[in-house]
Amino acid sequence: MEDIAKLQIGENSYEFPLVKGTENEVAIDVKTLRGATNGVITIDPGYKNTGACLSAITFLDGEKGILRYRGYSIEELAEKADFLEVAYLLIFGELPTKEQLEQFHADIKDKAIVDDDVRKIIDAFPKSAHPMGILSSLTSALTAFNPSSVNVDSEEDMYRAIVKIMGKFPVLVAWAMRKIQGMPLNYGSNSLGYVENVMTMMFAKPNEDYVINPIVKNALDKLLILHADHEQNCSTSTVRIVGSSHAGLFASLSAGISALWGPLHGGANQAVLEMLEAIKQDGGDTKKYMAKAKDKNDPFRLMGFGHRVYKNFDPRAKIIKEVADQVLNDLGVEDPILEIAKGLEQEALSDPYFVDRKLYPNVDFYSGIIYRAMGIPVEMFTVMFALGRLPGWIAQWREMRLGKEPIGRPRQIYTGENHREFKNISQR
Ligand code: SDX
Repeated sequence: MEDIAKLQIGENSYEFPLVKGTENEVAIDVKTLRGATNGVITIDPGYKNTGACLSAITFLDGEKGILRYRGYSIEELAEKADFLEVAYLLIFGELPTKEQLEQFHADIKDKAIVDDDVRKIIDAFPKSAHPMGILSSLTSALTAFNPSSVNVDSEEDMYRAIVKIMGKFPVLVAWAMRKIQGMPLNYGSNSLGYVENVMTMMFAKPNEDYVINPIVKNALDKLLILHADHEQNCSTSTVRIVGSSHAGLFASLSAGISALWGPLHGGANQAVLEMLEAIKQDGGDTKKYMAKAKDKNDPFRLMGFGHRVYKNFDPRAKIIKEVADQVLNDLGVEDPILEIAKGLEQEALSDPYFVDRKLYPNVDFYSGIIYRAMGIPVEMFTVMFALGRLPGWIAQWREMRLGKEPIGRPRQIYTGENHREFKNISQR
């Protein structure tokens, strides 16, 4: 392949360099396009064909259903690593040695307390508040209690901000759940592992000893790993563009949490459960919901299906489906919702509408069934997604800042009124 792209506009022809990645992906570098063509730009709603950056963190192949973090396959990481190890890998680029992991965890535990005034902010929320709104608010509010984590330029200052949020975010996640459940806001223990500590803060009752269920712990570890990063998805792109203005890490993460909340993105895991519940209430009539999903006049979509990049199976969905079977079996949970989900999947996989559009179950289709079996309320499902995605957001923000990327500021094509004279109100 030639290493240039040729473009013809009217009588003029232009050449642009091609950029090739380590997995042989190719992009046309249009950095000089507007200047060379006297103002011509590209337009690509939803950025379906547009790369925002070069990144060394995560590789996806949507046709082959491949997902790798820093070159390691998601299948191997989900099976052999734990969440904190994968967080280190995503953020710093290498699997940690035992000493590096212990130091990372020690630095995180050292910062795993939030200012007690945060309780006053949580008190001000109604119990009906959606925990994603609580989480994005509190993540931004952390800036007020940790002002030194705002303008960070050096790697050392970034590291300090990173271990702070890795320590404090699980507290905010747990307290958001305890708030909507009317439970006291508690801490776990620095004697526990990272995920065990999260579980303790989420589930421990004040009047009894909390015993970690290893089935739940292992499943949660896997789920958090599977959600940890996914290259330039909507919320990660949000974190990168907010961070490109040199807004601090916490403010950038707060923006990412808000983007993840949407039902087309991370909010889908909650929407899937609500959809499956509705089908169950409807006597399990999956055909009615399949018809709704295919009806162009009906805004309903089959939640948990389809993906911007995966035009084959989502490798995470395959693993999560296996984990769902195992966890429900090990916990002795009979959940008819799982059978409805499997039935829906089977129908969709043989329906021309879904097959023609390459719509397969995505990461959100089965995850909620596991969270529910763990006793996590449905409003908390997307918060669990955010907890998993935290290291990916951090890694992407750090890569963008260390790469000294310019502030993100897309162009547009204006389609409004041409110039017109102002009219006094008496003349309108
Ligand atoms: C996540 O980007 C990431 O990596 C995200 C994520 C991550 O880890 O960060 O993987 C996490 O967000 C997963 C996706 C969760 N969202 C959902 O499950 C919501 C339901 N899915 C869709 O809304 C949709 O599939 C998207 C948003 C996921 C992708 O949308 P696209 O790529 O913009 O595709 P599209 O809307 O252009 O759809 C193409 C066609 C359309 O039909 P036609 O106009 O060609 O006739 O497929 C149809 C769509 O109507 N379609 C669906 C459908 N998804 C797409 N029809 C019914 N049900 C669906 N779920």
